[in-house]
Amino acid sequence: MSSSDNAVRPQLAEISSCTAVAPAKINLHLGVGPLREDGYHGLVTIYQSVDMWARVTLTADPAAQTWSISAVGPGAEDVPCDDTNLAFRAVRDCFAAAGRELPAVGIHLTKQIPVAGGMAGGSADAAAAIVAADDLYGLHLSGDQQLEIAAGLGSDVPFCLKGGTVLGTGHGERVTPMPAAHTPLHWVVATAEDGLSTPSVFRELDRLRAAGTVPESGSFDADGHAVDAGHIELARALAAGDIAQIAAWLHNDLQAAALSLRPVLRKTLEAGREAGALAAMVSGSGPTCLFLCRDADEALDVATELTSRGLARSVHTTTGPTAGAQVLERR
Ligand code: C5P
Repeated sequence: MSSSDNAVRPQLAEISSCTAVAPAKINLHLGVGPLREDGYHGLVTIYQSVDMWARVTLTADPAAQTWSISAVGPGAEDVPCDDTNLAFRAVRDCFAAAGRELPAVGIHLTKQIPVAGGMAGGSADAAAAIVAADDLYGLHLSGDQQLEIAAGLGSDVPFCLKGGTVLGTGHGERVTPMPAAHTPLHWVVATAEDGLSTPSVFRELDRLRAAGTVPESGSFDADGHAVDAGHIELARALAAGDIAQIAAWLHNDLQAAALSLRPVLRKTLEAGREAGALAAMVSGSGPTCLFLCRDADEALDVATELTSRGLARSVHTTTGPTAGAQVLERR
């Protein structure tokens, strides 16, 4: 800018922003133990990140009086834009951990992961917000500090920070990277009209188990301790990149509960199998359904068939694993 520009333009207070992204998750194995005293269920899960991203922009405007939050994109009308929002809580917790006062930050969410769809959309917002806050305000939080903040926000948030193919234990918040072959997995994601709340699906599983309708998890013994189960076979198949074995060992203990609350999902799963998918399963607590396909062409065929049968609100093709949360843009 030349000195003459300075003469004609008022000097604006400097506004800066940072946009970060974090991936959606799917659970390739989800073993759910008994309800614990802290209100959570013990989990043994294999997470994988897929190429669908939560996008969070933080704006530091020196003229702003207070923090604000807004959301756009499919399902944004169902996102609470107040201090219960996970992205806001993430930013607030980052400042608390850094021993600094919360500034008048603007938080803007671009929703691209199905809302209440069992793909950790809200958790990915939180993970992206942690990365963006650290970058924009130079908080210098260590990786471990970021993971601790993430674990305090929700079971899936640490995974959304890390991405990749990861073993999750505890109530899902303890994450350990796993060896996986470099073969991308091709998925079709079919979202449903209305979301399912995660707590209600866990409660339904407890009810079905108490009634003896659904067996206890093969991933836990009678005392609630994790045991070697299908996830070990799946881990082997992932390390070998053996797609047929991966398909054979996909498993979700929450599926019976999601199907009990939303029986119509059976039709969606069946339609994907008929269209040639190697495997079909409910994603996490649902109601999104996932279909593992041999390659990108098959995924396109399955997606086209699901779309033409009108069994989903929207149908996407995607691949996993991806990287974790990261900064996309600084201004
Ligand atoms: O951790 P997150 O906030 O995602 O969990 C939301 C709710 O889902 C919990 O309050 C609990 O009711 C249920 N949940 C559970 N066991 C888990 C994870 C979540 O019962 N491992």
